[in-house]
Amino acid sequence: MRIVFIGPPGAGKGTQCKRLTQMLEIPHLSTGEMLRGTRKESALGRIVSGYIDGGRLAPDYLVMRIVNKRLLESDCHGGCLFDGFPRTLNQAQMLDEQLAVKNNRVDLVLDLRVGQEELVSRLLKRASIENRADDNAETISARLRVFFTQTAPLLDYYKGQGIVRHIDGTRSPDEVFAQIRSCVQATKPKHD
Ligand code: AP5
Repeated sequence: MRIVFIGPPGAGKGTQCKRLTQMLEIPHLSTGEMLRGTRKESALGRIVSGYIDGGRLAPDYLVMRIVNKRLLESDCHGGCLFDGFPRTLNQAQMLDEQLAVKNNRVDLVLDLRVGQEELVSRLLKRASIENRADDNAETISARLRVFFTQTAPLLDYYKGQGIVRHIDGTRSPDEVFAQIRSCVQATKPKHD
């Protein structure tokens, strides 16, 4: 099973993927975490930091290089959860091409919906606890703008494949997970 989580910053993608990865026993691939992991490395890290700290998307070629390398690892062969990836139409098309090589595809897209006021409040609260560099008012606003202009249109791409399910992300984490679990249980992987 290959599941894509789409949602604005603070919608709960990471929170829910952490639960689902345990239930399904498939890896959780967060491109945000992968990119943040490169920050300690010199040249690449400096380039990536510029994008993340400005709330802008890293270039597709860079993200695809990291994701494609990860997908070759054996623990991903039976499926995985994509958290915050793909984020552009180009990334979605390249992912489909990559999966098609092994006769696989994205089985389910979960569209986590939360209003902007709640998103900002969650991220500012997280900033005070975890001190994430991009959880400040200015960068949050840029991240939201980027989501609605560059990532939300992806839903139309996946709706064309009939695999999008909407999730009310405003409920408690347990209630959100219950919705996700029902969607997953109602989905049959098509090419595994
Ligand atoms: P990324 O790390 O993916 O960040 P994001 O999309 O902005 O998402 P967040 O991690 O902020 O939120 P989330 O939806 O995971 O929510 P969470 O569960 O943490 O990306 C960071 C940056 O990396 C991007 O801006 C970009 O620069 C770059 N990048 C990443 N992927 C890329 C790609 N594919 N292409 C190009 N660039 C890319 O929850 C948030 C908070 O809310 C937490 O404190 C949590 O405890 C709380 N919470 C969660 N659920 C609930 C709930 N139901 N009720 C109340 N509180 C809740």
